[in-house]
Amino acid sequence: MSTALEKEFSKRYGHEPEAIYFCPGRINLIGEHIDYNGGQVMPAAINRGTWLAIGRNTDKTLRFQCLNFPETAALHLQESYTKSGHEWFNFPLGVIDRFLSEGHDLSGMDLLIYGNLPVAAGLSSSASIEVLTAYALSDLFGNQISRVDIALLAKKVENEFIGVNCGIMDQFAVAMGKEKQAMLLNCDTLAHAYIPAAFPGYTLMIINTNKPRALADSKYNERFAECRLALLQLQSVFPSNHLCDISPAQFEVIAPFITDETVRKRAQHVVTENERVILAAEALAAGRAEDFGDLLYGSHRSLKELYEVSGKELDTIVDFAGTFKGCIGARMTGAGFGGCAIALVKDDRVNDFKAGLTLDYTVRIGYAPEIFEAEISDGVKKVRP
Ligand code: GLA
Repeated sequence: MSTALEKEFSKRYGHEPEAIYFCPGRINLIGEHIDYNGGQVMPAAINRGTWLAIGRNTDKTLRFQCLNFPETAALHLQESYTKSGHEWFNFPLGVIDRFLSEGHDLSGMDLLIYGNLPVAAGLSSSASIEVLTAYALSDLFGNQISRVDIALLAKKVENEFIGVNCGIMDQFAVAMGKEKQAMLLNCDTLAHAYIPAAFPGYTLMIINTNKPRALADSKYNERFAECRLALLQLQSVFPSNHLCDISPAQFEVIAPFITDETVRKRAQHVVTENERVILAAEALAAGRAEDFGDLLYGSHRSLKELYEVSGKELDTIVDFAGTFKGCIGARMTGAGFGGCAIALVKDDRVNDFKAGLTLDYTVRIGYAPEIFEAEISDGVKKVRP
């Protein structure tokens, strides 16, 4: 990929790129809608992601081009920027704006991006491009920003420039991922550990619903606000900084202090999902794949019934998985409202699973899903100097 990108860069900009970088996307094994509630999550970076060819120019201009989208931009280098519409280049532009506001000196530069992640499909294409740009700028301009600080900076861009109240999980996962390892991340303290993502005898699959995620950002922010309200009401009887500071047993006692039933359901998901992550980490470390699989199903049920972020397409996949002999667990991954699911399938049943699910899903939904194997990979890196 990097050779083709390099050639295309030279063709489009008339000079060679100075370097090429790659940043993966991620799946989340378990711990959904937990990061902005201060709990534990278990994401992993995957081998699909975003590439950036970049080179400085001398005409004080920022040029953005992408092989996936026709829109381009050429902006004069100034002190700050604001988001313009819904164009793809807001993501790298937001990172540049952040670098400038934090006092880093930048020059004009030409950027060419290519990604092979399905866009807006719950595999963190936006965190991928944000962390990619931040890592590249830090390297190119000699800022030596640590990977953790790059993740934090990229999250700020998503929160303040793009306007989505996301937590730290995606940016952290794609900045800090390790090959063949799941990451157990405490989203409050950022303490993290790696657990070999080995499910002996089983293959981890990703299933893209291919459903466009309409209104996902506004519904995401709505869930964020519901969790804030739940926390506020519970704080009157239970001192806690985050919903995830509350155990399921404690929650049972204090839940009536949440006045709205919907808000109570949201909090119940958060509290129980956080506990499932701990159990899943234990199961994974002990090689208990079936127990891990059960927790995936439990997570999906909670996201569907309590948090209400699933949908017909994701449920069709998980329902099929539940009836398929040889699949021991499945759930939606990422924010929901469409996007992707993951499933653990017996190695020798993978082809049957693909064929059966494609048929079942296409009959019920009207178009086919995309099904591929998850390859857990390293985080952001320089591909070529
Ligand atoms: C999106 C957000 C993350 C996280 C997940 C849900 O991917 O960017 O911060 O909240 O949704 O777990």
